[in-house]
Amino acid sequence: MQANSEDSGSRRGDSRPIGVFDSGIGGLTVVAALRSVLPNESIYYLGDTARVPYGGKSPSTVQRYSREIASLLLDGDAKTIIVACNTASALALPVLTAELPVTVTGVIKPGAEAAATATRNNHIGVIGTRATIKSGAYERAIHELNPQARVTARACPLLVPLIEEGWLQSDVTDKVLMQYLGPLLEAGIDTLVLGCTHYPLLRPAIHRLLGDGVTLVDSAENCAIAVRELLVREDLNASSGRTGHLQVALTDPPDAFLDVAHEALRLDIGEIELRSVSPAAAAA
Ligand code: DGL
Repeated sequence: MQANSEDSGSRRGDSRPIGVFDSGIGGLTVVAALRSVLPNESIYYLGDTARVPYGGKSPSTVQRYSREIASLLLDGDAKTIIVACNTASALALPVLTAELPVTVTGVIKPGAEAAATATRNNHIGVIGTRATIKSGAYERAIHELNPQARVTARACPLLVPLIEEGWLQSDVTDKVLMQYLGPLLEAGIDTLVLGCTHYPLLRPAIHRLLGDGVTLVDSAENCAIAVRELLVREDLNASSGRTGHLQVALTDPPDAFLDVAHEALRLDIGEIELRSVSPAAAAA
C-alpha cells in the first residue's frame, strides 16, 4: 500500500489509521487499550455487526468474512491491521498474514504471552467461543512459549449473548459463569485467559467469583503493546505531536450493545459510519 506522501515517512510521521476489526462491537475493548497506549494514532474500527457472531461458524466462513472486512480496512488506507476478535485470530490470521500487503496482528499470541508470564503453577485456563476453543489456537500459542504448561480450555457460548444484553452484574450471569468456570477452578488453574473480545466486560464479575487466587488475562493491553513495537519496527508511527482520532464503522446499524460497551469502556465514539460488505470487496 502507498503511504500518504504528505504525512508518511519517519520525520513527519504516518497519519494513516491503524485498521482494527472484530465480528461486532466487542473489539472496542482492544481499541480502548490502543487509545491509551498509542494516543497519537488514529484508529479505523470496523465491526461486522451484520454477521456477528463468528464464534459458532466454520473456519472457511470466518476466513471469508475476515478477508472481506480486512479489505474494507485497506480501502480506508489502514497502515496495519489488528484482528481484535479471538475467533477470527484463531481461524483466519494465517490466511490474512499470507495475503494482505500490510502486517496483521491477532490477539491470541499477546494473550498467550501474558498468560505464560502470569502463571505460577503452570496451569492456565482459557475460555472463548466454540470456534476459538475448537481451533486449539491458544494451546498451541501457550505451548510454543512454555511446552510444560497445562492448558484447560472451555467454550462458553452463553456469555456473549449475556454480555450483549448488558447483564454484566447479574445473578443469572453469575450462575452461568460458575457453571463454566467451576470445573476450571477445580482443575487447579491459577491464570485464566479471557479469550473473547467481549469477556473483559465481565472481568469484575469473574474476579468477584474466582477471587484473587486466579489471575485474569486479556489480550487487549498486550496486543496494544505489540502494535506499539510493530509501528516502531516498521517506521509507521504517527508524529508525536498529533492527537489520533477514532472512526467506528459497522456493517449493520448499532444496537443496545454499543451503549453497553460505550459505558463500560468510556470511549469517545462519535458518529458511526455504515459500510456494506460487497462481493467486490471480497475479491479485492
Ligand atoms: N468477537 C468474538 C471473539 O472474540 C466474539 C463474538 C463472536 O462470536 O463473534 O471471539
